[in-house]
Amino acid sequence: MASAASNPTTCSGKDYELPWVEKYRPHKIADIVGNEEAVSRLKVIAKDGNMPNLIFSGPPGTGKTTSILALAHELLGANFKEAVLELNASDDRGIDVVRSKIKMFAQKKVTLPLGRHKIILLDEADSMTSGAQQALRRTMEIYSNTTRFALACNTSAKIIEPIQSRCAIVRFSRLSDRDILDRLLKVVQTENVPYVPEGLEAVVFTADGDMRQALNNLQATYSGFHFVNQDNVFKVCDQPHPLHVINIIRHTVGGNIDDAYAGLKQLYDLGYSASDIITTLFRVVKNYEMPEFVKLEYLKEIGFAHMRIADGVGSILQLSGLLAKLCMARDKAITV
Ligand SMILES: Nc1ncnc2c1ncn2[C@@H]1O[C@H](COP(=O)(O)OP(=O)(O)OP(=O)(O)O)[C@@H](O)[C@H]1O
Ligand SMILES: [Mg+2]
Repeated sequence: MASAASNPTTCSGKDYELPWVEKYRPHKIADIVGNEEAVSRLKVIAKDGNMPNLIFSGPPGTGKTTSILALAHELLGANFKEAVLELNASDDRGIDVVRSKIKMFAQKKVTLPLGRHKIILLDEADSMTSGAQQALRRTMEIYSNTTRFALACNTSAKIIEPIQSRCAIVRFSRLSDRDILDRLLKVVQTENVPYVPEGLEAVVFTADGDMRQALNNLQATYSGFHFVNQDNVFKVCDQPHPLHVINIIRHTVGGNIDDAYAGLKQLYDLGYSASDIITTLFRVVKNYEMPEFVKLEYLKEIGFAHMRIADGVGSILQLSGLLAKLCMARDKAITV
C-alpha cells in the first residue's frame, strides 16, 4: 500500500507548511536583524575565530539561539556536527550531566583548523540548577584551550556570578518596530500573503519586540483568514483592539468618565482579563499624542494599577478606579 509516509513527495510543498519562525530563521550572522552592537561583536568573533566564553542574555524571540547557532556554524563549518554539543532546557542538565556528558565532550579529541575550538551550547541556561552551574566553573577553565562555552538565557541574573565572570556578556534587547516590520514585509512578499499595511502594523503591535511572536501571529492570521488586516490580526491574537482602547483614553483625556467606563465595561464583558486590558492600555498610552507631563502621569497611574493587578486584584472596580485616576491626573497635570 502506498502510504503518505512511504512517499515523501506527498507531504512536501503546500500541504506541509513549516512554521515560518523556523523557515525564516537566519543561518548567517549577517542576516540577524536589530541589536546592531551585539551582532557586530559576533561578526568580529566569527572573523577572528577565537571565541571567548559567551553569555547571550535578553528577552524571548530576539535572536539568541539563532545567533549562537549561526556563530557556531560560521566558526566550525563542516565540523559543526562533531565539534558542537548542544544542550537545552529539554535535556537533563543536572550536576551528573555536567560531570559526565559535558566533561566527556570537553575531553573528546576533534581535529579542527588552527585556532578553532569545540563549542558547548547551553541554551536556556537560566534553567540550570545552581549546583550544575557550580560544577561548570572549573570545567570551563580546565578545558579552555580546546573548548568554549556559549550560554543563552533570558535573565543573566540567574547565571551564578563566577560563571558570569568567566564569560563575555552579549545583551539582546527587544527588537524595534521598524526591524520587525521590515522582516515581516520580506516574509509576506516571499509567501505571497495578501495584506494591508495596517495589518502588518497590527502584527508588530501585538508582538511587542518579539520576532518569534510576530512571525507566529502573521502565520496564524494568514492561515486563519488568508488576509492580513487589523481586524483579523486582533481576532487571531485575541488582544483588545487598540482602536477601542484609544477611544477609552480619548474619553479620559476629555474628562468624560462615563463614556470611558462604558468602553472599558464593553472590553471586560468581551472576556478580556484585567491584565490583557492594562497591557494594551500601557502600550497605547506610550504612543498616544498628548502633552508629555500628562502622559507621564498616565503612565505612572497605569504602572501602579498594573502592580495591583499583578498582585491578584484584577476586578473591574480596579480598572474603573484607574480611569477615575486618569481623569484626575489630567486635571492635576493641567492645573499645576
Ligand atoms: N534578530 C532576529 N532576526 C531575524 N529573525 C529573528 C530574530 N530574532 C528572532 N528571530 C526569529 O524568531 C525565531 C526565534 O528566535 P530565537 O530562537 O533566536 O529566539 P531566542 O532569543 O532564543 O528566544 P528564547 O529566549 O525564547 O529562547 C527565529 O527562528 C527567527 O525566525
Ligand atoms: Mg532560545
